[in-house]
Parts: sequence; structure tokens; C-alpha cells
Amino acid sequence: MSRITDLLGSRHPIIQGAMGVISNPEMVAAVSEAGGFGLLATAFAADPGLVRDQAQATKELTDKPFGANLFVMNPLAARFARVFAEEGVKCVTVSGGSPRELIPMLHEAGIRVIVVTPNADSARSAEAAGADAIVAEGAESGGVQGLKGSSTMVLVPAVVDAVNLPVIAAGGIGDSRGYRAALALGAEGVQVGTRFIATRECIAHDNYKSAIVETKETGTGLVDMGRFRIRALRTGLAEKMLRGEEPADQAFRGEAIEASWLGGDLNAGVLPAGEITGLVSDIPSVKEVIEEMVGANRSQRS
Ligand SMILES: Cc1cc2nc3c(=O)[nH]c(=O)nc-3n(C[C@H](O)[C@H](O)[C@H](O)COP(=O)(O)O)c2cc1C
Repeated sequence: MSRITDLLGSRHPIIQGAMGVISNPEMVAAVSEAGGFGLLATAFAADPGLVRDQAQATKELTDKPFGANLFVMNPLAARFARVFAEEGVKCVTVSGGSPRELIPMLHEAGIRVIVVTPNADSARSAEAAGADAIVAEGAESGGVQGLKGSSTMVLVPAVVDAVNLPVIAAGGIGDSRGYRAALALGAEGVQVGTRFIATRECIAHDNYKSAIVETKETGTGLVDMGRFRIRALRTGLAEKMLRGEEPADQAFRGEAIEASWLGGDLNAGVLPAGEITGLVSDIPSVKEVIEEMVGANRSQRS
């Protein structure tokens, strides 16, 4: 068992990154059943009762370990942490800000904490705050980004050198080549987002999945949200935002997300996706993605 599979309790050191409404119980269970580690998302959650329902629904679907993401910018993050403790979740990721306040209560509840960081300095701070492992998330990844970032290729070794903790690479990993590259850089596991959207089990609308398949490696951009940025598909709406012709804040909220991610109206909201879109060319099952990644069914291109 590696340090990461020991921490996660999963067969493979592959975390399915939290992805808002997409990380529903079916998705999380599919990943955990396939030997990865599914994560429920709470970044947009506003109701601890619904978060508890999601944790319980996931337990109905799998008896394999799964985790959850706590997003520090969500003011209810500490309440969600208590819910996960009560529901027996053993490992969470913390992202979107400093983990300092959450780590002591999570540890007291017996929950291991993996902190998502965009640079070596915040990885050092997370280690000082008591993190059990670090996700080093490169700027090519889909979703929320800090205002400064570096690529996974540079970030992962920088974080490996900076801390004395197991490091998990995120950003631009979608197949066995990316997985092996991450291990070669010193990571002991990977966190994958965009590749898992284009899978059969994902509830994302087919238009979102097809857009990921069709988008080249140059087809994403960083949409400015003020305190942070979002790497997203360069749809017509996103192009307007990138030119400053359209405000971005409403396009990353409940209704816009429902209409675009789940409803398939690609110009109704921001559609987060990473540069790995350039290497995603099909919509397989979650199990096929994981097995190809770990080499059980090696990609013909590798
Ligand atoms: C649609 C979407 C939503 C995301 N939401 C979250 C989130 O709520 N919390 C979080 O920590 N990361 C979030 N992420 C980042 C992923 O968990 C993961 O770290 C990232 O996608 C990895 O890069 P990749 O897209 O190149 O695989 C999101 C990513 C996407 C694509």
C-alpha cells in the first residue's frame, strides 16, 4: 500500500476532484467502486441537511471509502465538516483558502486532511497547519484558480521539495501518460477533474461532455472572477467575459450552473474545464478511465 492509498483507503491513488453538482453520489460511488477515491463537493452547498443526504445516498451506492471537499470560501464549511464526521467520512480535501481553522476540528473528529494548494508557499503553510497530504494543483486545471499559478510540471516538484508530506498532482492529468508523468515528478497520486466529466456516469449534459471532447488544448481560458479566476471552456459567453464585455459573477451561480452544466445551454454559464480537454477524445466509463490510467488497459498512444 502506498502512503496515498493508505490515507484514502482506496485501491488506486486517484482522487476524483470535487466538481460542484457534477460530483453527485452516483459519480462519487462510480469512482470509488472502480478503485479510485470519489469526492462529494460542497463549494456551492447552502444546506447541511442536503449535504448529509448526499453522504447517505453515496453510502447506499458503495461500501468503498469516499471523501468530500470543503471549500473555505463557503461560510458553512465547518458545519459541513461536522456532517461528514457524523457520516463516517475519513478523509477530506480542503481548498479555496487557508485550512488553518478547519484542520484541528477535522483531526479531532478522526478525519485526515488533504490540502489543495497552488504554490509551494501555501503547501508549506498547510504542512505547518497540520495537513496530512497536499494536492499540488497546476494552473492548467479546470475550475477555480488563484490569481497567480504555475503549471503542474513545475509546481509538483516544487511542492515535493518544499514539504515532507505525500503530494498528489492535479491539473492536466487524463490518461496513463499524465499519471506516469505525475509519479515521475515525485507525486504519489493524482487528482483528476475534467477527464471525469467526459464519462458515461457523469450527470453533466451531453453538450458539456461533447464540448470537452471537441475542445483543443488551447480552447480554455482564465475567466476573471475578482478574488479568483476560473479555467473554463472558451464558449461564446466566456470569450465575451475574457474581453471584459460581460460580467462573470452571475455566470458562476446556481441557476447559470444548472442551465449550462446540467441543462446543456453552453452560453448560460461558465463551463469549467482544464487544458486536458486537448487529450480527451471519447466518453468512456469511469472504470475504463481509471484502468487505462493505472496501466491495466494501456492507451495505444502511450
Ligand atoms: C467543473 C469543475 C468544478 C470544480 N469544482 C471544484 C470544487 O468545488 N472544489 C475544488 O477543490 N476543486 C474543484 N475543481 C477542481 C478539481 O477538483 C480538480 O482539482 C481539477 O479539475 C484538476 O484539473 P483537471 O481539470 O486538469 O483534471 C473543479 C473542477 C471542475 C472542472
